[in-house]
Amino acid sequence: MKIFKKSNQINKFLLSQKSVGFVPTMGALHKGHISLIKKSKSLCKKTVVSIFLNPKQFNNKKDLKKYPSNLKKDLRICKKNKVDYLYVPNFKEVYSWKTKKKIYPKIKNIMENIHRKGHFKGVLNVIEKLLDIVPSHKLFLGKKDYQQLRIIADYIRINKIPTKVIECDTVREKNGLALSSRNARLNVREINFASKVYQFIKKYKNNYLGKKFNKKVILNFLNNNHIKYDYVENCNFNNLSRSKSINKHSKIFIAFYISKIRLIDNI
Ligand code: PAJ
Repeated sequence: MKIFKKSNQINKFLLSQKSVGFVPTMGALHKGHISLIKKSKSLCKKTVVSIFLNPKQFNNKKDLKKYPSNLKKDLRICKKNKVDYLYVPNFKEVYSWKTKKKIYPKIKNIMENIHRKGHFKGVLNVIEKLLDIVPSHKLFLGKKDYQQLRIIADYIRINKIPTKVIECDTVREKNGLALSSRNARLNVREINFASKVYQFIKKYKNNYLGKKFNKKVILNFLNNNHIKYDYVENCNFNNLSRSKSINKHSKIFIAFYISKIRLIDNI
């Protein structure tokens, strides 16, 4: 595995390559990230992983400070999974990179864009740089962060960037909890408790398929279990507009807290 810290070096190196898959991450790698790496390896000749904890996308400084990071372990995981190139830049290497003027998509005022003000602007700031520094043919993004995935896909489409977005399924614990770097801050009891939210919404969605979205049922469950939440939404997964009924184009989105750790999921 070749490791790059300098943006101009990886950029030059990749420009001549024919089939490059790119998996951008913020580190604290887990099986969700690994599934993206495996998908890239199955579809591309070379796989690049970036590890960059992007401060610009954290609307809360405490959250950034507490974000888990373990570069040694991440390196081991990348090596074990036969990542070809690892890009681990510092802040300056990313943000002093000059790109041609880009258009940012209009972001619907819903879900994360209401509750994490400025978050997606920070995500687009870093994606603008990363996609330019790491010229890739395919970009691997997880459906776990579905609103982010749609926004990045819009950004790529409107700027006519020749990179194809590959949407990757959410990897879950056996009990259904979506894997997330933030889970590292939960103990076993909390992980089990968090999985109840997924289990409940999954069952709810099956029971209510073809019917009106009755949010109260989910809110009652959360309140009865003293689970704080930022939002519960039922949206069409193509355009992320709220939908009144649960149908085959629906996704239920939730942001909730377990012991002050904020988790998001969609089902
Ligand atoms: P990070 O949270 O590290 O996630 C990196 C990628 O892994 C994202 O595409 C995310 O959706 C995917 N992912 C996370 N958990 C997953 C799971 N359980 N199953 C499948 N995929 C999963 O998302 C970011 O970093 C950043 O915002 C980034 C795009 C790198 C920009 O800084």
